[in-house]
Amino acid sequence: MAGIYIHIPFCKKLCHYCDFHKSLNLKDKGRMIKALVKEMELENGFLESEQVETIYFGGGTPSVLNYEEIMIIFEGLYKYFKISKDAEITYEANPDDLTKQYLNKLVKTGINRLSIGLQSFSDRDLRLLNRRHQSKTGIKAVYDSKDAGFENINVDLIYGIPGMSMETWENNIDIAFQMEINHISAYHLTIEPDTVFFRYIKEGRIKIPEEDISIEQFRVLIKKAGENEFIHYEISNFCLDNFFSKHNTNYWKQVKYLGLGPSAHSYNGKIRRWNVADNKMYMDSISKNKVPFEKEYLDNRKKYNEYILTSLRTIWGIDLKFLEENYSKEAMDYCTGLSKRFIDYGMIKKKKDNLILTDQGKLIADNIISELMM
Ligand SMILES: C[S@@+](CC[C@H](N)C(=O)[O-])C[C@H]1O[C@@H](n2cnc3c(N)ncnc32)[C@H](O)[C@@H]1O
Ligand code: SF4
Repeated sequence: MAGIYIHIPFCKKLCHYCDFHKSLNLKDKGRMIKALVKEMELENGFLESEQVETIYFGGGTPSVLNYEEIMIIFEGLYKYFKISKDAEITYEANPDDLTKQYLNKLVKTGINRLSIGLQSFSDRDLRLLNRRHQSKTGIKAVYDSKDAGFENINVDLIYGIPGMSMETWENNIDIAFQMEINHISAYHLTIEPDTVFFRYIKEGRIKIPEEDISIEQFRVLIKKAGENEFIHYEISNFCLDNFFSKHNTNYWKQVKYLGLGPSAHSYNGKIRRWNVADNKMYMDSISKNKVPFEKEYLDNRKKYNEYILTSLRTIWGIDLKFLEENYSKEAMDYCTGLSKRFIDYGMIKKKKDNLILTDQGKLIADNIISELMM
């Protein structure tokens, strides 16, 4: 089993908080798509002929692609990889790209899961974030996506936005559930270096919310998700039963994946690689038949740390037997020993051989994870 991630490194406008790799130079789209297909040819051995169960178009903004461009990418994927007939194929989209006309074509491409970046239903927040769309465009995009035939829809929301009131956040969550989608990813805003928000904070133009406000917003999210029968299956991810994002779940379960495109990461159980985060350097190098990446070999300590980081954030938690079988008995004993005090504090619960965060523990997940690392 394996996954493929495709990074579409273009945006039409830059959001003030985002440090994902992207460029405003959409003129390069055609050349980039050719390079992506060439990278598939160059890298088709990376997954060692494993069946591809999930494909994920991320960005940047995949929804800058038109039908013909998407189909060129699919042609490459089916030519160079073994794609499962019922693969989950997710496409990240910005709401204002999702016109009825676009959606009616998109649904014919084979894409069967949409992830729509709504972020907020407050126009004040959307302006502050420098999003392209307004609240009503976001809502319309979701309903139009359903009308076009998409049954598997995620929406992204952000909380912890400077000046966002508790009332706005609760309203955002309520609207999201009213739309009857089956998956929500809700991220706390992070202030990344080299973003406009980073500068605004330094200049005192905006303030990150106090920790207790962020925690309260997270608490309300967990409560409302439960009331709507959504499973909180990863710190930032909630879904109805059977609508887990297979692609992301596979990342957390150490399944192999190949990342295509500038800045994309790949993992095959032994090494982690990341492509250069520069469109021109990427395309120039691919045109010389060389994928431009850096890589690191994962020793047992790094693998252990990655496993702790990803697994403890999920509903399945740390599987102590998996640690023993895949790393060592020492790694399992190390983790068991360190987790004891969190079990005593009610932050972690032990269920059979698994260590799982309690709701209390989820509020300080990052601190617990760093304590359990080697
Ligand atoms: C990188 S975007 C790509 C998809 C699409 N371009 C969009 O904006 O919706 C994927 C998601 O990452 C989240 N994101 C990006 N930067 C973030 C940050 N600094 N803090 C919290 N969430 C962030 C947003 O929720 C966004 O929807
Ligand atoms: S959040 Fe999405 S649209 Fe905004 S800059 Fe980042 S990738 Fe582009």
